[in-house]
Amino acid sequence: MNREEKLKSLKYRYGRKNDFPGPGGSGFGGPGGGPGGHPPGAGRFGAGRPGFGKTGKSDPGGTKSPDSAAKGLDQKKRFGGGRPENSMGTVVRLLGYLREDTPKLVLAFVCIILNTLGTLAGSYMLRPVINTYIVPVDGSRGDPAGLLGALGVMAFVFLVGVGANYLQARIMLDVAQSALRKIRTDLFGKMQSFPVRFYDTNSNGDLMSRFTNDVDTLGMMLSNTLVQLFAGILSVVGTLILMIYTNIWLTLITLFMVPVMMRAGGVVAKQSHRHFSAQQASLGAVNGYIEEIITGQKVVKVFCHEKVAMEEFDLLNEDLRDNQIRAQFFGGIMGPVMGNLSQINYSLTACIGGLLCVFRNFDVGGLTVFLNFSRQFSRPINEISMQIGNVFSALAGAERVFSVMDEAPEPEDDKNAVALSQVKGHVVLDHVTFGYNPDKVILKDISLYAKPGQKIAFVGSTGAGKTTITNLLNRFYDIQGGSITIDGVDISQIRRDNLRQNIAMVLQDTHLFTGTVMENIRYGRLDATDEEVIQAAKTASAHSFINRLPKGYQTMLEGDGANLSQGQRQLLNIARAAVSKAPILILDEATSSVDTRTERHIEHGMDRLMADRTTFVIAHRLSTVRNANAILVLEQGEVIERGDHEELLAQKGRYYELYTGVTELS
Ligand SMILES: Nc1ncnc2c1ncn2[C@@H]1O[C@H](COP(=O)(O)OP(=O)(O)OP(=O)(O)O)[C@@H](O)[C@H]1O
Ligand SMILES: [Mg+2]
Repeated sequence: MNREEKLKSLKYRYGRKNDFPGPGGSGFGGPGGGPGGHPPGAGRFGAGRPGFGKTGKSDPGGTKSPDSAAKGLDQKKRFGGGRPENSMGTVVRLLGYLREDTPKLVLAFVCIILNTLGTLAGSYMLRPVINTYIVPVDGSRGDPAGLLGALGVMAFVFLVGVGANYLQARIMLDVAQSALRKIRTDLFGKMQSFPVRFYDTNSNGDLMSRFTNDVDTLGMMLSNTLVQLFAGILSVVGTLILMIYTNIWLTLITLFMVPVMMRAGGVVAKQSHRHFSAQQASLGAVNGYIEEIITGQKVVKVFCHEKVAMEEFDLLNEDLRDNQIRAQFFGGIMGPVMGNLSQINYSLTACIGGLLCVFRNFDVGGLTVFLNFSRQFSRPINEISMQIGNVFSALAGAERVFSVMDEAPEPEDDKNAVALSQVKGHVVLDHVTFGYNPDKVILKDISLYAKPGQKIAFVGSTGAGKTTITNLLNRFYDIQGGSITIDGVDISQIRRDNLRQNIAMVLQDTHLFTGTVMENIRYGRLDATDEEVIQAAKTASAHSFINRLPKGYQTMLEGDGANLSQGQRQLLNIARAAVSKAPILILDEATSSVDTRTERHIEHGMDRLMADRTTFVIAHRLSTVRNANAILVLEQGEVIERGDHEELLAQKGRYYELYTGVTELS
């Protein structure tokens, strides 16, 4: 593969997820980044924050499949689709968030009007001031005392404008931040209500970026862009009226120059736009690459890929440099080009205005304020054209946020759903059929009956469907055929929160929250006393290692328990389940990373834990399930053998093969 092809393939692979909503509808200070804009180079937020992209999907049920990722949120929106699709609908929805603050908004807009009027009036007052007190039109001498008074009035008018501007900024900040708070609350609330399927089919990075980048962009628009747009339009209209009022001929010169400036600006913006897109694509690829290499650093080291990584990075980095130079060049010349044109306009107006003063009795005060106006006139035009791009990008962001909010939450509980009060633990699966995709059956005709206090084990090779069964028990997913009952009540008729309270689970993927060891165990039952937590830790054989931690139970765990070993993490997860008083317990490979000696040690505690609960155990290490009341051997979603340890061994079937090691567990 030559350099060119290699770069192309790298950019394709790493660029996508971090695809920043490019210009042509995005990227603050994108093209058109003329005077006063953000530097077009950097983009406002950089492309995709490291750490939020491919950091691995959450997989709460431990059941992820490659083809499941195909669904999920709209792909176009997922990768930052530039232009909004339904601007009107989105605007109306956004306004809904501002409705509560209508009085404040009105006040802010009054302030903007006051500020614009103040600026315009202040500038215009210069004309009578010059004509009356500095160079009186009747040829008399100037009047210093009168001048001072007039300047005082001007200062007051300007001050009112400045005050109004300050007030407006404060109010808008308040309004925008309150709206953002509501949006974030709604979004987070929505995320808590989504079914597990949602998280199985959407990437963490994408969701994170909606929460951060998109909401930020929206905030910028609410607090700044709207105001600037409104103020800009007001100022253009006001200036134009005052210019016409001051001198119609000079106004014509400016009106002639404006399209020329806009045309020139358009040409530069188009070029800049093109290079800006390229730059964002490169930036996305570089960020994506860095992120992946950082998160996979250990694997990079293990397989000595440092040199390859360096070479690949170099390639991407060089490409970014080239594109950045081009993008920033065109972004950078926008200011000078517009500045020079504005200067030409200024000189032309000054020359012709001077001639008008000499030959046509045009007053000097009039010429002075007009020159100011003609300078002022082009600025808001540039700003408006820039802000429109920002509005579109913010609306596109809002759409991405709203599209998450519009995802279906977990269906409501059936209206006849009950809450079981004293669950004994009779669990019956009756001819259960299930597939994550309805057309691809994963579990076929599974039946079982667990009496209270019994221990049921699932064994079988990887991908056989063991975790899937546990996902059905607590309704992470709903079954397609057959029925599951607890104490004779169909689980679809039990309130979900009640059902889940009654099932304690140790997931195949351990997870610990940021907090102390004590807090992490107590997560299983918030009203557990310290003694109960410690007792649970003892049951899980975690007590002794916790005591060896620097601050014992008060040791802070961070980053999913990064300072613990995998086995220790599992022990804490078991303790968390142990502290819960749920009558049904599910252990999915709960001790897979624990050494056999500790495992044997746990066994006694576990026996106590399981004694009065119905327990489902999944284990590859068959020694741990030997004492189960019933062992179900699963193969491609079907139960192929069942019985207790002795019976299964006697059958000399699959279990026998697995147990005696005739066939290796795949
Ligand atoms: N979220 C999902 N969407 C679609 N298919 C899935 C999903 N989770 C699991 N699967 C598929 O279901 C099948 C059973 O997976 P399951 O996780 O139940 O296996 P398992 O027996 O627990 O395996 P292991 O021993 O590796 O944990 C696999 O073929 C897997 O590809
Ligand atoms: Mg599993």
